[in-house]
Amino acid sequence: MAWTKARLEDVAQTRLGGARLIVVANREPFVHRYRDGEVEWIRPAGGLTAALDPVMQACGGTWVAHGSGDADVEVCDERGRVGVPPDDPSYVLRRVWLSKDDEEGYYYGFANSTLWPLCHQVYCRPTFDPAHWETYRRVNQTFAEAVLEEAQDGPALVFVQDYHFALLPRLLKAARPDLVVAQFWHIPWPNPETFLVCPWAKDLLDGMLGNDLLGFQTQYHCNNFLDTVDRALECRIDWEKFAITRGGHETTVRPFPISVDPDLAREYLGDDWEPRAAAFRKKHRLADRALLVGVDRVDYTKGIPERLRAVDRLLAKHPELKETFHFLQVGAPSRTHLAAYRDLADEVQDLAEEINWRHGTDRWRPVVFLNEHHGQEDITLLYRMAAGCVVSSLHDGMNLVAKEFVAAREDDRGVLVLSQFTGAAKELTDAVLVNPFDVDELAAGLRTALTMPAEDQERRMRRLRARVADNNIYRWAGMLLSDVGKLVPEPAGSPKPACPTPPAEPTAPHLTRESFIPALRLANG
Ligand code: F6P
Repeated sequence: MAWTKARLEDVAQTRLGGARLIVVANREPFVHRYRDGEVEWIRPAGGLTAALDPVMQACGGTWVAHGSGDADVEVCDERGRVGVPPDDPSYVLRRVWLSKDDEEGYYYGFANSTLWPLCHQVYCRPTFDPAHWETYRRVNQTFAEAVLEEAQDGPALVFVQDYHFALLPRLLKAARPDLVVAQFWHIPWPNPETFLVCPWAKDLLDGMLGNDLLGFQTQYHCNNFLDTVDRALECRIDWEKFAITRGGHETTVRPFPISVDPDLAREYLGDDWEPRAAAFRKKHRLADRALLVGVDRVDYTKGIPERLRAVDRLLAKHPELKETFHFLQVGAPSRTHLAAYRDLADEVQDLAEEINWRHGTDRWRPVVFLNEHHGQEDITLLYRMAAGCVVSSLHDGMNLVAKEFVAAREDDRGVLVLSQFTGAAKELTDAVLVNPFDVDELAAGLRTALTMPAEDQERRMRRLRARVADNNIYRWAGMLLSDVGKLVPEPAGSPKPACPTPPAEPTAPHLTRESFIPALRLANG
């Protein structure tokens, strides 16, 4: 049976019973900001929020996140709560306010200058700064307090996201052993030699072993995690069950490859996508040339300079391709407070200019670099317009751009050029798989995308689409919930209800109980 939003709603009802679902992720799914004196909201760039928002819309509950928008506080109640999505609320966003020092040490520091490069291995040497570590610990404690407040005294399943919160599971379990705690690690887990150079490796591992269930993108990352724990900590490892017991508590470790909601593409495209595509072509002077697109946060793990060098190589080797295509890179600014990210944006800009100078003509510039945030509507439009989408990450846990591109191609056309070093490459084997470190191979991949016959495109794309349709985001969440949901205790003194007992009324004044828990709407017809 296929996984759909409705099926996930059912699973959430039966598995969660009366328990609250609390998701914790550093990034919030909606950011409120000021534009020209008015408050507007946007969806931030990045796969995590795009993937989890449909799950929360299906299950209801509370998402605890850092409130990062300059108008965030404006729309919240006194506890930092607001109903989202802003245009049709179905769950609660609880914002946690962090100081600049907190952000500096925890987010830019330990999360993104230590754990991010450490887990992606090389490309940028991790920093190991005791002050960052202290702030990371403090902010994990701050989030623990917010989660405990949201859980009130009842049963709850806390679903922690990513490397920002390695210590949170242990803190939660210490305070409330009855909470069921699961974590999904969205980025790779490296081999033990790499991870164990971190001076605080043991504390991080111990924190993660507070989880009942720990999910990674691939079996390989699970293997690496078990190997790392085996080398570093006193514990018992059951290699059959893939479970670790430490201090009497068992953590099960499993792969759950994350995905997208394939039906959203149609929604984002709308009925007017063709005139929008024509307007986009006119605005960027693309004429009717073929488009190769890249869509990324400007991050050094994504292999953006590598793909531009491949464009350069392609044009040098095949001058007959001049004026036949554009390479269009959407680069959402990301973590620009860090020098490594600012330097990368400059490098990409310089490379684009250099290639345009070398190969461009009066009426044609091969590379178009749009270094700004684009909404999902525009991005999906680009996917639909493209001859090919290029994902050339040097190392990536999954990469949801690859899956979003496939989901957008209802016409069964377009070619996905995909780095073999992404989690997505394990599933999307009908893509043109490339080694992004090999400039000639990547250039050849781009040429394949520009020249593949229509029937080959269709054959590959149909298989890719079937894969993404089956392994969609509802399957990901459903499998996770099914695994961990059996640990959720029955509410004290009562059998598990047939339909969920609603949590207390949310305090955000404009939220109704119905808008808070869609599962209730379903159960009550
Ligand atoms: O892949 C890691 C990750 O943190 C994702 O979870 C998220 O989608 C992306 O990076 C965005 O990063 P940030 O929240 O730092 O902008």
